[in-house]
Amino acid sequence: MPKTISEKKSEIKTNGEIHPASHASKWNYAPSPESTDHIHLEKQYGLFINNQFVKPHSNKYFDTINPATEEKIADIAEADETDVDNAVKSAKNAYEKYWKKLSSKERGKYIYRIARMIQERSRELAVIESMDGGKPIRESRDIDVPLAANHFFYYAGWADKLEYAFPNRKPEPIGVAGQIIPWNFPLLMAAWKIAPALACGNTVVLKPAETTSLTALKLAEIIRDCDLPPGVVNIITGAGKTGAVLVQHPLVNKIAFTGSTEVGKIIQKAIAGTNKKLTLELGGKSANIIFDDAPINEAVEGIINGIFFNQGHVCCAGSRLFVQESVYDEVIRKLKHRMKSLIVGNPLDKNTDIGAINSKSQLEKIHYYLDIGVKEGATIYQSTSILPTKGYFCAPTLFLETSQSHRIVQEEIFGPVLTIQTFRTVEEVIEKANNTPYGLAAGVWTDKGSKIFNLTSKMRAGVVWANTYNKFDPTSPFGGYKESGFGREGGLHGLLPYVNLR
Ligand code: NAI
Ligand code: MG
Repeated sequence: MPKTISEKKSEIKTNGEIHPASHASKWNYAPSPESTDHIHLEKQYGLFINNQFVKPHSNKYFDTINPATEEKIADIAEADETDVDNAVKSAKNAYEKYWKKLSSKERGKYIYRIARMIQERSRELAVIESMDGGKPIRESRDIDVPLAANHFFYYAGWADKLEYAFPNRKPEPIGVAGQIIPWNFPLLMAAWKIAPALACGNTVVLKPAETTSLTALKLAEIIRDCDLPPGVVNIITGAGKTGAVLVQHPLVNKIAFTGSTEVGKIIQKAIAGTNKKLTLELGGKSANIIFDDAPINEAVEGIINGIFFNQGHVCCAGSRLFVQESVYDEVIRKLKHRMKSLIVGNPLDKNTDIGAINSKSQLEKIHYYLDIGVKEGATIYQSTSILPTKGYFCAPTLFLETSQSHRIVQEEIFGPVLTIQTFRTVEEVIEKANNTPYGLAAGVWTDKGSKIFNLTSKMRAGVVWANTYNKFDPTSPFGGYKESGFGREGGLHGLLPYVNLR
């Protein structure tokens, strides 16, 4: 009889404050918290329009909180229709008056400047990212912030070389890009969206997710300090309603959205019949496949990295594991063993592997699915990590004995939850892995190059990693099949959504 979730939760919760290295394993690290002395945060943030922070028209603000402590960090402005209109008009004005007239080489210089300033302020950005969003400092410091800078560097390089990206065609900017991003990689998603748009000569109105506005607003400071012409980048904050108004604004020529499939579909409907361009990067339920000839220890580490680091808040997280039957026992044993040493806790501690779930509602969604998994008859295994009592935390979880029809196997959970199935043949695993409404990514672990090539050509997934997982590079395109969306971001392909080709 599987244990209920509440029984499980009471087993893994203890009393006490956030304890950075609190975990019930044999590894005990001394706490190593990153300092917050060097960061500067305002108590209240306005909207960034025309290179200035302005008060919202309604004078309404909402709280942004630290999900690891549940404490408020700052007031964030809520943009209404008037504010969105001001931001879009400022972007339109900047586009017509300066940006599209500027030589591409000069455009590139501004983008390089943004990249360098992100590097200069990387420590501050990393700490704020972890405070506002809950991700471990190791992730924000080593992945999010450097990659954000690299995206600006990379697209700065393209700015004056667009005719080489599209030989025999004449690439022209589109105009104003409305960009809406989620909370799982706040600064990085802003970079993914802003950098190629600017490189191609467009101007931007960006709306970050309502739980993680701070690093986008820090990026606004950087843009102001880089002396970008006013209005080239505008950053407005607010929730879904603000996003919806931006989508519908008649002066917006292109929408780029990353977030839930549900909202992606709403946006697609909202702009049907207009000539707005659209790219959607939506959810996923990506497969990680281990063959019996794989280097098992490395594969186990890759599985852990693919689903547990960053709390499973990764659209391409390897959330469905397929293990070849003959190595099943070994893989599960090693996986459970490794999970014992995962540290769940203070995102600012450098030892932390799994930080805070981004919001209360996301934690509730994860618990909802944990209950469903148990009711569906899967066997739940949770690591014995001790969770802080304050803040939104979730123990890394395995679901064993799952089947294709289970909701936990079909639906995106967006948390540190891994479902596990077995397979015997290559054909069987390809069919099972492709049997999902999504198609964002996949991982394959094997010693055989031929198997890798066979799988990569048959997987309906935008990215297939071989003997690694969740590796990103600005030169490499990213995007989905099926309900995971369309359009590519990153690489040369990432320029295409931001140009009209003549
Ligand atoms: P969401 O899709 O509601 O939010 C993403 C962004 O869209 C936010 O900036 C939000 O303010 C904005 N938005 C919401 N409604 C909108 C509308 N009608 N028009 C325009 N913009 C709108 O995602 P949410 O609710 O934060 O998370 C729900 C689920 O979505 C997660 O549990 C996860 O499964 C999935 N998700 C997927 C992401 C991905 O990277 N593919 C990222 C975040 C969430
Ligand atoms: Mg927050």
